[in-house]
Amino acid sequence: MSVPHPGSTSIWMASAEMPRVAPLATSVHTDVCVIGGGIAGLTTAYLLALEGRRVVLVEAVELGAGDTGRTTAHFFPPDNRYHHIEKAFGADGAKVVAESFTQATEKVGAIVDSERIDCEFERLDGYLFSLTTPGLAGIHEEFSAALRAGVAVDEVVRAPDLSFDTGQCVRFSNLAQFHPLRYLAGLADAIVRRGGQIYTQTRALDIEAQRHLQVVRTDAGEVRADAVVVATNTPFNDRVVMHTKQSAYRTYVLGLRVPRGSVPRVLLWDNGDPYYYVRVATPDPQADHDYLIVGGCDHKVGQEEHPRDRYRVIEDWVRERFPMAGAVDYRWSGEVMEPADGVAYLGRNPLGDGNVYIITGDSGNGMTHCTAGAMLVTDLIMGRDNPWSWLYEPARKPTHGLGEFVREQANALAHYGDWLKGGEVESADDIPPGEGAIVRDGARRLAVSREADGGLRVHSAACTHLGCVVSWNAAERSWDCPCHGSRFDIEGMPLHGPATKPLEKAELKQ
Ligand SMILES: Cc1cc2nc3c(=O)[nH]c(=O)nc-3n(C[C@H](O)[C@H](O)[C@H](O)COP(=O)(O)OP(=O)(O)OC[C@H]3O[C@@H](n4cnc5c(N)ncnc54)[C@H](O)[C@@H]3O)c2cc1C
Ligand code: FES
Repeated sequence: MSVPHPGSTSIWMASAEMPRVAPLATSVHTDVCVIGGGIAGLTTAYLLALEGRRVVLVEAVELGAGDTGRTTAHFFPPDNRYHHIEKAFGADGAKVVAESFTQATEKVGAIVDSERIDCEFERLDGYLFSLTTPGLAGIHEEFSAALRAGVAVDEVVRAPDLSFDTGQCVRFSNLAQFHPLRYLAGLADAIVRRGGQIYTQTRALDIEAQRHLQVVRTDAGEVRADAVVVATNTPFNDRVVMHTKQSAYRTYVLGLRVPRGSVPRVLLWDNGDPYYYVRVATPDPQADHDYLIVGGCDHKVGQEEHPRDRYRVIEDWVRERFPMAGAVDYRWSGEVMEPADGVAYLGRNPLGDGNVYIITGDSGNGMTHCTAGAMLVTDLIMGRDNPWSWLYEPARKPTHGLGEFVREQANALAHYGDWLKGGEVESADDIPPGEGAIVRDGARRLAVSREADGGLRVHSAACTHLGCVVSWNAAERSWDCPCHGSRFDIEGMPLHGPATKPLEKAELKQ
C-alpha cells in the first residue's frame, strides 16, 4: 500500500509499498504502548520488541505518513552545529551529540544488516560548505568544534568531482543515507515477527495515569500499558510546556532527474540563509537516471503567503550549480521541530509520573535524533542508565537558548493578534478553485477553501490546540497554524500536532 498524501508526494512515497495494517478494533493490554508510526515510533517499538517487551504501536494515519515520508534522509551532523552546542552545553555536551549521532547511524546500519532490510542504506562522506565570505568563518569554527567533539572531520579546499566550486569546506567521513520508507516497512515487518502489534488509522486522543498503568484512549479503543512512548513528532499529550521550547518550520524539496552517475554520491549542505541540503537517490536501480534531491528555503509554519515560490528559489539555485539537472519530477514539503537551545528532547515527559516518554525536537536531524531517542528511551524503560540522557532531558530549562526562546515566544504570541484583522479576501466568491483563504464573517474568522467543482469547505479558523488563527498553505492544500505548527487538511482533520481535534465545522452567513 502506498502512503496517503493529501498534499504533495515525496519521491519515497512514490517508490515504497508500506505494509497494510488494520485499525485497533478492541481494547488491549500491553507492556509498552508506542504512539506514532514514523522513524521514532517504529525504532522504539522494534528495540523494545528485541528486549522481549510486549509492544503495541498505534498510528493515526498510516506508517510513514508523517515527516519520515517527507524527509531527505541524510544522516548528517547537527543542524544546529557543534560550535553552538559546545557554547551552550560545553565540550561534554558536544561530545554526547557526536557519540549519540555516531551510535545512532551505526544502529541503523546494524538493523538494516540483521533484518536484511532492502532500503539502499549506504555510508558516504558529507561536506559542509559556504558560498559567502562571511560564512567561511563559520565553516572553520565548525571544523574546530567538531574535531574537539571527537568527530572524524578534515578541512578540504573543495568538495571533489562536483559541477560547482564549494570552496573550502569540512568533510565529515562515514555519514549515511537510505530510503526512509523502505526502512520503516522493514522495521514494521521485524516488529510483527517478534510479536509486536501495530494498528494504523488509530489516533491516540489522550493518556491518563490510572494507578500503576497508563491508559491511552484512542478513537477506536483503549491501550492499557505500563509505559507509553509518545513519538508523534511533536507531543500531543503536552498542551503547553514542550510547545514553548520548540518551534515548527516548513522546509521544501525538489527531486530532479540527473543522468546516472553524473552527480557524486555525497551529502552536501551549506551554512547560508536560506540554506540548502543535497543528496542523490536511486529508487529504481533499473532506470537510466538518478535523482538529485535538493531541499531548503525553510520558514516558520503558517507564516508564508506564497509557499510555492520556495520551489522556484530552490530550482534556480540547483540549475545554477548542477547543469546536468533535468526535469523536476517531485516537489514536496514537510515540517521540522526546532528546539530553542538546539538539542532534541528525548526522555521522560516533563509532566506526570514518569512512565510517559517523548521523542521530539528532531530539527533537521530526525534520522539520527529519533534513532538515538529510541535507544535512550528503551534504556530508560528497561531500567538502565543512559549516558546521553542528561543532555537530551526534556525537562531542562531553555536557559541555553534563552534569546531564541524569547524570540520564538514573542513570534507565537503576536499571532493571537490575527483575530483582530479583517479577512484575506472580501468574500468567499474571491477564492479560486483549489485555493483557500481566511474570510471575516461578522465577528468570526473562517477558514474557507474551494473545491475544483466550486463547492466550499468552511471551518472555524481557530486552531484546536490553543486557538491561533490558521493560515492557508497553497503548496500542500492544508490549514497550518503559525503558533506551534499544527496542520489540518481541507476537511479540517488534524495532519500534524499538537492539535488532536478537527477544526470546527462552520457555515458562511454572508
Ligand atoms: C523535507 C524534510 C527534510 C528533512 N531532511 C532530513 C534529513 O536529511 N536528515 C534528517 O535526519 N532529518 C531530516 N528531516 C527531519 C526528519 O524527517 C524528521 O525529524 C523525522 O522524520 C521525524 O520522525 P518522527 O518519527 O518523529 O515523526 P513522523 O515521521 O512525523 O511520525 C509521527 C507519526 O505520528 C503519527 N501521529 C501523530 N499524532 C498522532 C496521534 N495522536 N495518535 C497516533 N499517531 C499520531 C503521525 O501520523 C506520524 O505518522 C527532514 C524533514 C523534512 C520535512
Ligand atoms: S498549534 Fe498551538 S495554537 Fe495552533
